[in-house]
Amino acid sequence: MTIPKESLNKHAELCLQLHHHNYLYHSLNTPQISDTEYDQLMRQLLEIERDLPELVNPNSPSQRVGSSPESGFRQIAHNRPMLSLENAFSTEDLREFDARLKRFMGSDESIEYLCEMKLDGVAVELVYQQGQLQHASTRGDGQVGEEVTANARTIGAIPLQLQADAPQLLEVRGEVYMELSPFRQLNEQRRDEGEKTFANPRNATAGSLRQLDPRITANRPLTISCYGLGEIHSVNPPTSQLEMLQKLREWGLRVNLETVALARDIDEVLEQYQKMLAKRDSLPFEIDGMVVKVNSFALQQELGEKSRTPRWAIACKFPPRQAETILESVRFQVGRTGAITPVANLRPINVSGVTVSSASLHNWDEIERLGVRIGDRVIVERAGDVIPDIVKVVLEKRSGDEQPIPEPTICPVCSSPVTRGSGEVVPRCQGLACPARLKESLKHFASRGAMDIEGLGDRFVEQLLKVGLVHNVADLYRLTKEDFFRLERMGDVLAEKLLAAIDSSRTQPLERLLFGLGIRHVGVHLAKILNRRFGNLEGLRQASRETLIETHEVGPQVADSLLALFADDHNLEVLSQLEKFGVQPDTSISPQGAALAGKIFVFTGKLERFSRSEGEGLVEIQGGRASGSVSKKTDFLIAGPGAGSKLSKAEQLGVKVLGEDEFLQLIKEASEED
Ligand code: IVH
Repeated sequence: MTIPKESLNKHAELCLQLHHHNYLYHSLNTPQISDTEYDQLMRQLLEIERDLPELVNPNSPSQRVGSSPESGFRQIAHNRPMLSLENAFSTEDLREFDARLKRFMGSDESIEYLCEMKLDGVAVELVYQQGQLQHASTRGDGQVGEEVTANARTIGAIPLQLQADAPQLLEVRGEVYMELSPFRQLNEQRRDEGEKTFANPRNATAGSLRQLDPRITANRPLTISCYGLGEIHSVNPPTSQLEMLQKLREWGLRVNLETVALARDIDEVLEQYQKMLAKRDSLPFEIDGMVVKVNSFALQQELGEKSRTPRWAIACKFPPRQAETILESVRFQVGRTGAITPVANLRPINVSGVTVSSASLHNWDEIERLGVRIGDRVIVERAGDVIPDIVKVVLEKRSGDEQPIPEPTICPVCSSPVTRGSGEVVPRCQGLACPARLKESLKHFASRGAMDIEGLGDRFVEQLLKVGLVHNVADLYRLTKEDFFRLERMGDVLAEKLLAAIDSSRTQPLERLLFGLGIRHVGVHLAKILNRRFGNLEGLRQASRETLIETHEVGPQVADSLLALFADDHNLEVLSQLEKFGVQPDTSISPQGAALAGKIFVFTGKLERFSRSEGEGLVEIQGGRASGSVSKKTDFLIAGPGAGSKLSKAEQLGVKVLGEDEFLQLIKEASEED
């Protein structure tokens, strides 16, 4: 099929506009359109690409959402080695560096340096040919790194396409990092969901960049600052470090130009060091030092490099923000999902200007790794998170009276049982009525994706709890108008509105109720599956572990969390009260086609047109079922490139094998039949 010329032009125009606005936003920090306008352009692009998938290419601005998961990282050799830096720890070291260069040059003339911040993240190389991003790799051992192109494409600050005047070939190096505020938000979210928190932004960056699933990277707030070159093919290459940074920015790359400073000699370098050190705590990102580089490229070339480090640059490390104190006791915090986080109570100590009295212990894995006990002398470090970390135990100072940190078996707030699934690092309180969980749980229960009780947000939830009107989600359904009048700033109209919203939520679909209860691992999609399989709450309650696990997509993790929910008396009481107060969820199964009823599908190989779960979803919508393994009962095997043992088994058994396109055609026909 030939693509209409208008569509081709429109597509090219939209790509150009989106690349341009991305550049203005990320590289120049001077957006010219609002987020909504940007979203509108993106929506138009997505529409064209949906109708004409031939137009999609890896560097289209639409591709930042993340492609399907990879099975491993390819090794990639750098054209020019990615060097590391020698460290200077004192003023003397820096003066010695300057003196060494002068000796090497055989001249006493002052050397001009560029001082840059040493960002604490992960070094990457981006390769652009004819202005298009070809690939991205990590530093690795300096000679060979790991390819992270699919992940790099999801980072908004990495241009997929450079400005028109960029060199034919540009290999650019920079630091991928996470700013402090989004880093803290990410950790907070992970803490709330009972996931492992990251000790510092660098670990969070490394973990995000090394994700096999780029869709996860796409949701991590990564950015980049470029500071160096690999190979460059240009008619007019830059002649100094500062000029290079300026050109990189002109070509479309993100450079922290505002934070660099030229120094005419080593004395000015030392002044810059003090200035950067003083700024360290007010920056929106972590730096762990200052990098000093000879500014002139000609001089850099003359000085050359040693085996792993250039002679023309040095890193001046900042002193770590650490101090020694005593771990006096441990308290436990309980989040919405019941996740219990241990927090260390420390003897207050000043760590580079800030008084620290508690530290995160993250989870029991971390406690074991540190081998820390109550009463230990510990080294605490401020490293990005609001709550500092314990980095080390001073074992030499143990008296022998130190006590192990106990893992709670009952919730410290509500005394419900606490469980920790196999392989999990976080113990959880199972009590739905736990006060600490209650506030967040109530907000989640009322939220749009769950029971959708309009108006019941932060403010009223907090007041309802404070006045003591609500102790669990079921209590919402016995509130009267008079009860509402006890809340601040509550009038007749508002009270009626809230009551009506609560009332109409009584018949929300069962999947919304299940999701709203905040059962660990049970999102809306799984809640739908449970509704479809078990029909009502009672059916679900009576299901055995085996029956649960046999249910498609319900693994042992989900089964265990459902079993724990129903094993707790508090929870059973809440569920029975919900029923008593008239919550009768709609258990009719959400509309679904029947064209593929009873048909069993298996997916294998690297799927390129859709993800596995998307494919499974498409099958389910048409009434079919997806399974993980091929057997005589399998009706169709959907095989992408690289299909192996499942494909040969299907062929042996005579199971019909379809390619991705044939499968999509089948789904299309099935939906037309309905
Ligand atoms: S220059 C040959 N500049 O520090 C020059 N590195 O220990 C090599 N880093 O691997 C690097 N900010 O990850 C340079 N402004 C900066 C930097 C920087 C952070 C990191 C980078 C590198 C490590 C060197």
